Amino acid sequence: MIYQVNEKGYYGDFGGAFIPEMLYPNVEELRSRYLQIMQEEDFQKEFRQLLKDYVGRPTPLYYAERFSKKYGTKVYLKREDLCHTGAHKVNNTIGQILMAKRLGKSRIIAETGAGQHGVATATVCALMGIECVVYMGEIDIKRQAPNVARMKMLGATVVPATSGSRTLKDATNEAIRDWINNPMNTHYIIGSVVGPHPYPDMVARFQSVVSEEVQKQLQEKEGRENPDYVVACVGGGSNAAGLYYHYLDKEEVGIIAVEAAGEGVLTGKSAATSALGREGIIHGSKTLLMQTEDGQITEPYSISAGLDYPGVGPMHANLFRTGRGEFISVTDEDAMAAGLQLCKLEGIIPAIETAHALAIFETRKFEKDDVVVVNLSGRGDKDLNTYIEHFNL
Ligand SMILES: Cc1ncc(COP(=O)(O)O)c(C=O)c1O
Repeated sequence: MIYQVNEKGYYGDFGGAFIPEMLYPNVEELRSRYLQIMQEEDFQKEFRQLLKDYVGRPTPLYYAERFSKKYGTKVYLKREDLCHTGAHKVNNTIGQILMAKRLGKSRIIAETGAGQHGVATATVCALMGIECVVYMGEIDIKRQAPNVARMKMLGATVVPATSGSRTLKDATNEAIRDWINNPMNTHYIIGSVVGPHPYPDMVARFQSVVSEEVQKQLQEKEGRENPDYVVACVGGGSNAAGLYYHYLDKEEVGIIAVEAAGEGVLTGKSAATSALGREGIIHGSKTLLMQTEDGQITEPYSISAGLDYPGVGPMHANLFRTGRGEFISVTDEDAMAAGLQLCKLEGIIPAIETAHALAIFETRKFEKDDVVVVNLSGRGDKDLNTYIEHFNL
């Protein structure tokens, strides 16, 4: 079985490029050039240099001793929260801004949920002196206010999306509309492994630096490249894709994907796509999608803005369908408790998205000698208000 994308842009049954005719030239230009550009020596040199000197890579692989002791297994945290801007998202935006420059684009648009991708995009646009417009759902603008301020300070224009659930899906719709209206000068920096081919593959490749580093770091710490399990939260799926990437075809490494159950999978207020989704098309790709009987997209819900999305990327839909990935969903309540617990046990305040991945240890048991790597996708600064309200701090 092959879990990487094929040359037609599919992961098994999922993927492809289902786009309006107006976007065809842009997406086709990207598709025909992305691999060649990424392989160019000067591209790699600039990408690697910025990851090192600007982002602060490699990020540490930290053995979480007290956390491990509590759950009776060996847990390592891949510290993407220590990246410049506070999450893994910047690995991809550095790559895509360099791609946009080589494609001759002078304007950048992006969508954002938690605001981390918006901040990471605004950051690289400031770095390169390029105009930046970020679309963000009205609800997310309220619950991730610190990130909205950061984007504005970095010189970006933040445009509220006021339709639907006023969250990530709706922001993505607005960004696509903008791209259709500005096809010549604009590059759309998609923030996860979603969208039409080649985006899921391109974003996964930029994020794959995460598992590339984990292989080396585990070799040093454990004398072997492979952990027994890799665990990550899945919104669209980019931090997960980055951690899984070099392990996809190594069946001896267990892949665990954690989705947001919201108030509970069957409450109607959830974003657990693997449990609730059926095959459908969203934002240009065929994937698993939460939808009604007649194919209308169901409004998702999660306390975490970054997981509040009714689909998953096609790579993850395929991991679910083939059984290669084990999918677990975690409620708001359990995620919040796990987030607070990490603060107390390890002195690390995680993003609420990440806290979902940490919560599985309460119910999913591992062997004492198992090496489990969890992607600590982001830090919790942006979520302080939600933590304060939830715990009456
Ligand atoms: C810290 C953090 N983790 C995870 C996610 C979810 O996105 P993805 O599934 O693409 O990693 C986000 C999205 O904004 C995020 O900010």
